[in-house]
Amino acid sequence: MSAPPELPEVVARAFDVSRKAGYASFCRNETGRLLATLAATRDGTMAEFGTGCGVGTAWLRSGVRGDARIVTAELDAKLADAAAEIFEDDPQVEVLSADWSTLLDKGPFSLLFLDSGEPTEVSVDSVADLVEEGGIVVLDDFTPCELWPPLSYGRVDSLREQWLTDERFTSVEVMVAPDASALIATKR
Ligand SMILES: C[S@@+](CC[C@H](N)C(=O)[O-])C[C@H]1O[C@@H](n2cnc3c(N)ncnc32)[C@H](O)[C@@H]1O
Repeated sequence: MSAPPELPEVVARAFDVSRKAGYASFCRNETGRLLATLAATRDGTMAEFGTGCGVGTAWLRSGVRGDARIVTAELDAKLADAAAEIFEDDPQVEVLSADWSTLLDKGPFSLLFLDSGEPTEVSVDSVADLVEEGGIVVLDDFTPCELWPPLSYGRVDSLREQWLTDERFTSVEVMVAPDASALIATKR
């Protein structure tokens, strides 16, 4: 086994909140552990587009060292309120009930987790300037593909292709499970 099965306490609380809200669209634990690991390398402010019920945010929070902060935006006010509950006593996490575009003037970020479920809106061009030099962008929910260009449902996955070839970033696709991969892109 590559990692302990126990969940960090803040992640367990986020799962409780998700369960109560009947929400199941959270990141898988393998991605969560990746987020926590990357968060542990970061200073400054990290951001998440699409909070859901706060599970991904909680994974990020579990990795935070020192006084690094997380700001996360969720369009659905009920979900944002539920996620805010998890972090109500935590000055290092801010949950915004808002479209992710609200975060456009709050950067640059040391880590950006793009998880609003609207891949076409989050092109490299739309977020490149939001990430500081050496900052990391994470996208998840890909199906591993050994072909180039990468295919998804029989078509070229242009979002993945864009992130893996853009000269502003050094990027890699990492399998987090046999059936799931994530992209990690570091700003040059
Ligand atoms: C895949 S879920 C997020 C899961 C969460 N990041 C996690 O890891 O547990 C996608 C979320 O993005 C939200 N969303 C969709 N469009 C958005 C937008 N334009 N701005 C902010 N949030 C958005 C949806 O309401 C949904 O809750």
